[in-house]
Amino acid sequence: MSAKVEIDWGSLSFEYKKTDYRYISRWENGKWDEGKLIEDNKLHISESSTALHYGQQCFEGLKAYRTKSGDIQLFRPDMNAARMQNTCRRILMPEVPTEKFVDACRQVAKANEKYVPPYGTGATLYLRPLVIGVGDVLGVKPADEYLFVVFCSPVGPYFKGGMTPVNFNVTDYDRAAPNGTGAAKVGGNYGGSLLPHKMAVEAGFADCIYLDPASRTKIEEVGAANFFGITRDDKFVTPYSESILPSITKYSLLKIAEDYLGMEVQERDVYIDELDEFKEAGACGTAAVITPIGGIEYKGKMHVFHSTTEVGPVTKKLYETLCAIQLGDAEAPEGWIFKV
Ligand code: PLP
Ligand code: COI
Repeated sequence: MSAKVEIDWGSLSFEYKKTDYRYISRWENGKWDEGKLIEDNKLHISESSTALHYGQQCFEGLKAYRTKSGDIQLFRPDMNAARMQNTCRRILMPEVPTEKFVDACRQVAKANEKYVPPYGTGATLYLRPLVIGVGDVLGVKPADEYLFVVFCSPVGPYFKGGMTPVNFNVTDYDRAAPNGTGAAKVGGNYGGSLLPHKMAVEAGFADCIYLDPASRTKIEEVGAANFFGITRDDKFVTPYSESILPSITKYSLLKIAEDYLGMEVQERDVYIDELDEFKEAGACGTAAVITPIGGIEYKGKMHVFHSTTEVGPVTKKLYETLCAIQLGDAEAPEGWIFKV
């Protein structure tokens, strides 16, 4: 199981690479079965599965890191479990208990140990848990059967260039409705984002920024990541909204900024008209880690933060501290690291 694989870790991007094992568990007759590791990466499901028709499905994303001493560790998987439970409640799917979720992630990372990139390569093992409604259902109602799957893939940076700043535009499309499913990690939110993403890329941007759907004045999300800005007087500011996906990276950065870097932090409305307040800005998420935002185009005008070519000093410090914690080089707050 631990034989070596030939992978050029440094040149990995955020793409699917098939690994040897995935975990699968089935919900039937009101309970989850024990779950097991399997080799087949294809799912065999009914054509009438609710996941295929009515969007009764959700996913999570977290990473396994190789430390300097060669150990493997997960970053806050209990938070992903809790978020998936919230999502499952929102779309009437059975919750996966935290212990089962974390155990499945551990099993998958361990079984695919040879795909966990070496320390220092910048690459990580991305874990993708998902729950889908399956079985024979025709009307719009919750399924009676579900699958909980965790697969993984070694990955590099989500946005090309890693710590090089990238630019975003502001889309006219909305990502989520007020009181909709924006705070849940359901696939429907991402289906709707494919077109605005394509339009942003074709216009020369890395991705687009979504404003709040009610007033279209406040920043909600940066593609599939949360936004943060550093004010001219060194405050870490990030939007609060009921329709934003509550990013585990963002909440980790709020703590890091406050406790490790001694910054004042604010989670509040961030207006698209107040970009001048920020000397630096970034996108944060599991896949995105921290991606510095060079500039944001809004209503035909480009607003540049620190620089479009160089990462700002505060963003750099946040990135280094976050990575040091995730890789085991710096002491983590209690309960953040789960050894595999
Ligand atoms: N926002 C969206 C829409 C996302 O898909 C993600 C990724 O999970 C995030 C934010 C960042 O969340 P996290 O830091 O928990 O990965
Ligand atoms: C993540 O950061 O884990 C995400 O889910 C973002 C994206 C790959 C969908």
